Amino acid sequence: MSAALDPTTIAALLDAARDAATRAYAPYSHFPVGAAALLPDGRIITGCNVENASYPLSMCAERVAAAKVAELGERTIVAIAVTAPKMSPVTPCGGCRQVLNEFHPTDGPMPVILDAPEGPEIITLDELLPRNFGRPVR
Ligand code: THU
Repeated sequence: MSAALDPTTIAALLDAARDAATRAYAPYSHFPVGAAALLPDGRIITGCNVENASYPLSMCAERVAAAKVAELGERTIVAIAVTAPKMSPVTPCGGCRQVLNEFHPTDGPMPVILDAPEGPEIITLDELLPRNFGRPVR
């Protein structure tokens, strides 16, 4: 599935993630994050972080995107882009790595595209979450 990651697709995912970051609700951290997940059929599903006055209830951008993917009835994220305008590149937090693992493709790696001024860095979820627990069999 990583063959789907041509430069046009990478650019589209980064654009969508940057756009989502503009809608982040981050009044506590002032640290907006955007994510954009690619589905097997080419659709792009975005997420932004959504914070809460009760801080631990805050949701990361990647987790919001993953929840939207699940609600659409989809179970596979082919690739995901992540951007944080105040820190480049930003990598998904540990909890989000585990959540993304739930949507890992069965037939290849899950590229995680990290936005950076000098150009995107692409790393796999397996590199971010080695010896992962509980990858589902679909
Ligand atoms: N955050 C994300 O949304 N994704 C990440 O990968 C890192 C952290 C959010 C959580 C919180 O709203 C803010 O960034 C500061 O930690």
